[in-house]
Amino acid sequence: MELRQIGTSDLMATPIVFGSWAIGGWLWGGTDDEQAITGIHAALDAGINAIDTAPAYGMGHSERIVGEAIRGRRDQVLVFTKCALRWDSDEGLHHFDTVNNEGEPVQLYRNLRRDSILWECEQSLERLGIDCIDLYQCHWPDPTTPIRETMGALVELLDQKMIRAIGVSNFTREMIDECLAYGPVHCSQPKFSLLTREHLDGVIAWCDEHDIASIVYSPLEQGLLTGKVTVDREFNEGDQRNDKPWFTRENIERVNAVLDEVMRPIADAHEATLAQTTLAWTIAAPGITCALAGARNPDQARENAGAMAIALTDEEFEAIRAAFWQIEGP
Ligand SMILES: NC(=O)c1ccc[n+]([C@@H]2O[C@H](COP(=O)([O-])OP(=O)(O)OC[C@H]3O[C@@H](n4cnc5c(N)ncnc54)[C@H](OP(=O)(O)O)[C@@H]3O)[C@@H](O)[C@H]2O)c1
Repeated sequence: MELRQIGTSDLMATPIVFGSWAIGGWLWGGTDDEQAITGIHAALDAGINAIDTAPAYGMGHSERIVGEAIRGRRDQVLVFTKCALRWDSDEGLHHFDTVNNEGEPVQLYRNLRRDSILWECEQSLERLGIDCIDLYQCHWPDPTTPIRETMGALVELLDQKMIRAIGVSNFTREMIDECLAYGPVHCSQPKFSLLTREHLDGVIAWCDEHDIASIVYSPLEQGLLTGKVTVDREFNEGDQRNDKPWFTRENIERVNAVLDEVMRPIADAHEATLAQTTLAWTIAAPGITCALAGARNPDQARENAGAMAIALTDEEFEAIRAAFWQIEGP
């Protein structure tokens, strides 16, 4: 299986990484723990060697599920998690109001202060049942805390061998550049899909020039780019897709038409699915190191892992690019 280096760190990850937001349930209309655990096992059995999670995904639930799933298999998997989003403190920048898996109101705050990062790291290690986090990422920038303080705390954790690499998510080029003044940044985690492309020539290209990996999130546009979301699909209550502009009837039809006309013949030629072809395109795109493919169950996990076996020709890559670049945002 191909492995890619995470920036200048010694981490070598598969180009498809298991994304574990949905298995936390929060903002995804609930979750099935049994399916989630067997889904992670299926991903590892199919060759995926890294899992991305975060404390905020179900207010600890996703990290606990990941911890349970990797027990006894720690040597097969790199664990990526995050800090910054607190639901149990009102220090820092108010992020947004939400409800937890129990339906109770919760206020999320962005907090990248030193003491908060050190405390969050301990909490994550405990929930995950591990003694070192492979990649520790700032989930969102916190403009109320100086970057010097945040980087100082992350470098402390590196020195103490509590973490092996440092990452940032949803940071601009300018913010990452400032981070570099205080320590290493091994990866950036921006959003990218064939429908959400603005970072490709921006922060992703910039990171490529600076030996920083780009591990992109929501590459399937939360399921839309699998072709399996039809206009009749009903999402559970609490699933964020009920309110997302890409998931209106008109936009689902627009995207499925391009998937059918342009991507399906290419997928068929590789005996691949649309989800696999979307992911194969993403991990072949310039500057993209890994794609975080979210999955809720073993079938999705196996299918997504299968993308790593597909090599698109230059002509196929360009045909998909040209077709999707015509699609305007919602
Ligand atoms: N740093 C950040 O701010 C940030 C933000 C978002 C995500 N992330 C990370 O990136 C990961 C991936 O992003 P994401 O989960 O938002 O979106 P995604 O990977 O684009 O889509 C995941 C969803 O698509 C559906 N799906 C996945 N594989 C499928 C398949 N083979 N066939 C049919 N449907 C399939 C599933 O939902 P259904 O089965 O319900 O349709 C799944 O939950 C997350 O899990 C998380 O680790 C990070």
